[in-house]
Amino acid sequence: MKAVVYNGPFDVSVENVADPTIEKPLDAIIRITSANICGSDLHPYEGRAEFDSGMVFGHENMGIVEEVGAGVDRITVGDRVSVPFNLACGTCRNCNDGFTSACLRANPSGQPGAGYGYPQMGPYWGGQAELLRVPWADFNLLKLPEGTEHELDFTMLSDIFPTGYHATELAKVSPGKSVAVFGAGPVGLMAAHSAALRGASQVFVVDFEPDRLALAETFGATAVDLSTGDVVEAIMDATNGRGVDSGVEAVGYQAHDATGQEHPALVMDNLVQVVRATGAIGVVGVYNPVDPGGATEEAKEGRIAFDFGTAFTKGVSIGTGQCPVKRYNRELRDLIIHGNATPGSIVSHELSLDEAPHAFDQFDKRVDGWTKVVLHPAA
Ligand SMILES: NC(=O)c1ccc[n+]([C@@H]2O[C@H](COP(=O)([O-])OP(=O)(O)OC[C@H]3O[C@@H](n4cnc5c(N)ncnc54)[C@H](O)[C@@H]3O)[C@@H](O)[C@H]2O)c1
Ligand SMILES: [Zn+2]
Ligand SMILES: [Zn+2]
Repeated sequence: MKAVVYNGPFDVSVENVADPTIEKPLDAIIRITSANICGSDLHPYEGRAEFDSGMVFGHENMGIVEEVGAGVDRITVGDRVSVPFNLACGTCRNCNDGFTSACLRANPSGQPGAGYGYPQMGPYWGGQAELLRVPWADFNLLKLPEGTEHELDFTMLSDIFPTGYHATELAKVSPGKSVAVFGAGPVGLMAAHSAALRGASQVFVVDFEPDRLALAETFGATAVDLSTGDVVEAIMDATNGRGVDSGVEAVGYQAHDATGQEHPALVMDNLVQVVRATGAIGVVGVYNPVDPGGATEEAKEGRIAFDFGTAFTKGVSIGTGQCPVKRYNRELRDLIIHGNATPGSIVSHELSLDEAPHAFDQFDKRVDGWTKVVLHPAA
C-alpha cells in the first residue's frame, strides 16, 4: 500500500510499504477514506519529538472496515467507522475508568497510553495510508452512518473535535459562562465550537493568524488578535474587569510572541491572568517532558515556569492531558448527524496521499489559508 513515511525532521515521503494484516483475533483492517494532518504531527515533523524513521504518520483516521479477526463480533466488514486516536485495550483499570488515553496495556513500552503513528505511543503505524490495522477493534471503533455524507465532519471525531470538547470539560464550561481560548488552530477552533455548544455566553479566541481568527468568528466567538496589543487587557476590558470563568490552552509548548520568539510559559501566564479567581483552565496543548529544541534549559526538561503563585492565590483549577476520545465521540457524532455541529467547516484542503509532503510543509509554515488538511488515500 501507499503510506506517508517519516524519514527525519522536515522530511516525509509517500512510499510503498507492506499491507497491514490481521495479527490478533481482535484486530480489524480499515480502508482509509480520510486521514487528517494534525498540529501534533508537526512536533515530530520539526524534530521536536523523537520519532523512528520509517514510521507511518497519521492518528486522525476514518474509513471502511475491510477485514476483521476471528474474535471481532460487533464490527463487521463494510462498516463505516471513526478510529479514536487513543489505542486502548478496553479491559485495564484505566480503560474501565474511561481513561482510554492512559490505557495500561496497549503500549509495549509500559508507558500509559498508546496511539497510531506517533512518538512514544507504541509501534503502531498510522493511517495516512491506504490501510490501517486497528487492535481491539470492537472496543475502539465508532460506527458511523453508511454512505459518504458528513465525511469532513465525521473525520474530526478521531481527535480534534473531542479534544476541543475535552478542553471545555476540563475548563468547566457550562451555560452562561465566559471562555477565553488561546490558539485558533484546529484544536482551539473546536474548543470554541464546543464552548458555544455547551451554552457559553461569551467566547474569546486568541491568535495572530487572521484566517484562523476569521474561522473562530464563524463559530460565534470574538477574535482577539495578539499582534495588535495587550491580550490580557483586551479580555479584562471586554468582561468589565472580571475576567473569564474558563480558559482553554490550545497552543502547547511552542507558544510564541508576535515576533515569533518562543516562550513556553506565555499562554499559561496569560490564562492565569484572564481567568477569574476560582475559575478553571483546560490545557490540551501538548507539553513534553523532553524537548531537545526547547527555548530554555528548563523547557528542554519539560519544566514550564508559569505563574503558579497567582494560579494558587486565585484558586484556579487546572486540568490537563490527552483527550479520552471515546468519552465524547458518540454524542459528538450525533450532534453532527442532527445538524447541530459542523466541525468539518474548518477544512481548508482535501488532498490525495501524494500531496502529503507539500501539505506538511505548508501547514507547518502556517501558510495563510492552510488551516486543516484532510488526505483521501483513495483519491
Ligand atoms: N491533548 C490532546 O489530546 C491533543 C490532541 C490534539 C492536539 N493537541 C495539541 O493541541 C495543540 C494545538 O493543536 P493544533 O492542531 O490546533 O495546532 P496548530 O499548531 O495548528 O495551532 C496552534 C495555534 O496557536 C497559535 N499560537 C502560537 N502562540 C500563541 C500564543 N502565544 N497565543 C495564542 N495563540 C498562539 C498559532 O498561531 C497556531 O494558530 C498542539 O500542541 C497539539 O499537539 C492535543
Ligand atoms: Zn491529532
Ligand atoms: Zn486499557
